[in-house]
Amino acid sequence: MRIVLKLAMGTALAITAFYAWHCATKKQSTHQGPPSAKDFSMNKTTLTLLGLKYPFTLAPLPYDYKALEPHIDEATMRIHHTKHHQAYIDNANKALEEVAELQKYTIEELLTNLPSLPESVRERLRNHAGGHFNHTIFWQMMVPNAQPLPTEKVAHAINEAFGSFDAFKELFNKAAQSRFGSGWAWLCINKEKKLVVTSTANQDTPLAAGLFPILGLDVWEHAYYLKYQNKRMDYITAWWAVINWPFVEKLFTDGLKAVE
Ligand SMILES: [Fe+2]
Repeated sequence: MRIVLKLAMGTALAITAFYAWHCATKKQSTHQGPPSAKDFSMNKTTLTLLGLKYPFTLAPLPYDYKALEPHIDEATMRIHHTKHHQAYIDNANKALEEVAELQKYTIEELLTNLPSLPESVRERLRNHAGGHFNHTIFWQMMVPNAQPLPTEKVAHAINEAFGSFDAFKELFNKAAQSRFGSGWAWLCINKEKKLVVTSTANQDTPLAAGLFPILGLDVWEHAYYLKYQNKRMDYITAWWAVINWPFVEKLFTDGLKAVE
């Protein structure tokens, strides 16, 4: 009888101990899971051009692949859009699949809050969400049969900021030509609502520096190498003939309201 009682007490103690361990483990695993969205300290941003959210998709070009010939060739446009841009989209989506709490944010919110993103996806979103953002606006910044000079409002702002259109062009060309390795040259609106020329490395965006981009030039080799090989300056010179100045003016108007 005594043995039976001892066995029963032992079993009860074992069950109690197992239950306590199970509860403690469950509690611990809840606390060790992925951080909740509020832990990311994501700030709202007024620098919104696109407002795109996960899942990102590749929009068709607003013109034919050969429409920018002879300045930018059909093969480059096709590969650039369907392969390079698509790869940025796929990789950005993959990163966001891993941290579902980030899927509700716009691409601008992600790119202006890079330091708050979890380390596991931060660099991938910087590069690939950045690449998606940059290319999406880049396609719209070009147009076939472009007018050679900026529209009135933009022309006035350029003159005010740089002295003349030619002085601006020289500054922009220098930023594009001197960007070491891969990157972009930009015309942006800063927080003082002034136009500035800048450049970014890789797929970094001006958003991360608090700037609202209104014109950008992709100077990655994939943007020009098939036609221009190592002659980046020839590509830069040719690109001035395909700028969509009315779209630049739209961004300029939006940007003046957006910057703080
Ligand atoms: Fe590109």
